[in-house]
Amino acid sequence: MSQPLNEVESPWGIVRCDICSDGAALTIAFSSETFTFHAQWLHDAKCDTGTSRTAATAYCSKLTDARIIKASIRSTAVDLDLVWQDGTRSCLPALWLRAYGPLVGQQPSTTVPLQGTAPKGWLANTLEIPHVDYQDIFAATEDQCSIVAESVLDLLLMNPSTGIIKIVNLPPPDLEGEHSKSNTLVTQVLKKLFGSVFQHPRRTGEKTFNVSSHHEEDAKRAHGLPNYDTAQVLLPHVDHAHYVHPIQIQGWYGLEGESENTFVSGLRALQTLQDEAPDLYEPFVTSQMAVGRKVDYYSPPLRQGAVDSPVTFHPGSSTAVKRFRWHAHLTGSLVTPFDTFQLARIAHQKFQEILTRDSHLLRVRLRPGDLYVWNNFTILHGRERVLVTPRTGVGQTVPEQVVADRYRELKTKSLKGVLGEDWVVHMPSEVLFQAGELVRGQT
Ligand SMILES: [Fe+2]
Repeated sequence: MSQPLNEVESPWGIVRCDICSDGAALTIAFSSETFTFHAQWLHDAKCDTGTSRTAATAYCSKLTDARIIKASIRSTAVDLDLVWQDGTRSCLPALWLRAYGPLVGQQPSTTVPLQGTAPKGWLANTLEIPHVDYQDIFAATEDQCSIVAESVLDLLLMNPSTGIIKIVNLPPPDLEGEHSKSNTLVTQVLKKLFGSVFQHPRRTGEKTFNVSSHHEEDAKRAHGLPNYDTAQVLLPHVDHAHYVHPIQIQGWYGLEGESENTFVSGLRALQTLQDEAPDLYEPFVTSQMAVGRKVDYYSPPLRQGAVDSPVTFHPGSSTAVKRFRWHAHLTGSLVTPFDTFQLARIAHQKFQEILTRDSHLLRVRLRPGDLYVWNNFTILHGRERVLVTPRTGVGQTVPEQVVADRYRELKTKSLKGVLGEDWVVHMPSEVLFQAGELVRGQT
């Protein structure tokens, strides 16, 4: 069954739809792309009767026989009316369909899913770290703040992106206030962007952590903890590598002194490993290692450890990287079967060597008042040397769940008016991003 062409301007406007496979599938031609959906998927995923399912309507309780007997485009071209085989009706928003298309739909003339392309990241000489104005983060109205926060989260979380930003036009450093570690500048910025920050199991509340070259308290911490011993090189790593659930976002503020800090795109380093040593890729991403540390300055000492692979992929994908876990200083050893140990160890050495190449290692001179925020899942950070003492850096972090909830909140708000709130609830973050990009491209 065909519908006449409809004049539309938005990239998610529907120009044509065809029922196929005797109602078991629906091909939708948007003004930008064409996708074929399983009728059963459309029936399972639709939210026109709400987001919750009952025992009778749960997708896994239903028979797999959903079929479409009629499909019609509304005159606005941004809604699709369906009549199901049992006589019930649904109205599906076109933007929701178009944003989901690359993930669950089939495209003509290709069998390669759009999501299957591995991300590439950046090299040191090609990265331009985006600047975000502090005044914009704390804009006059909440609506303005939300727009800035949404663009920041897109930069930090979504591919292709840099995964790192620099906050500029900050107020001058407040040495006294920062040493209190409560409600410090980096905490204020991260709470404004994300809503809340990490609650350490032993530190009180939201206190920041300092890495210092001169404070007595911090000097005590240096014992056995490379990130606190500023006399030595700190190899590129992710923070919380020894946590079962590492934090996702990190902010780092230069309070006093100067240091040469480093950043590396984990995605690009992995791409280089795959390009140069394809035989090592699989041993690398599947290898297990034990990461842990004992912190004596807590009483009793805090002991934490995790066993994981260096790369975690998005669920169901073997190519889309979700997170790197890498901290050479805190990793004890590989935990791999006898037969795979040697190759896995060579792969780990190769990855470490790539991380420290000039081509991959971005060197940044961290001065007082500099504030960087990055995605700790994809960007590794380190320190080559302390240049001016006394030197203190101030850190704060944000957990993965806080980031995910905030991203959905911001996208729900920005899509309001073009996509009903219920339709947003189940959408994966990447699909929310695509929906936002479609709307942004139209305006
Ligand atoms: Fe660190």
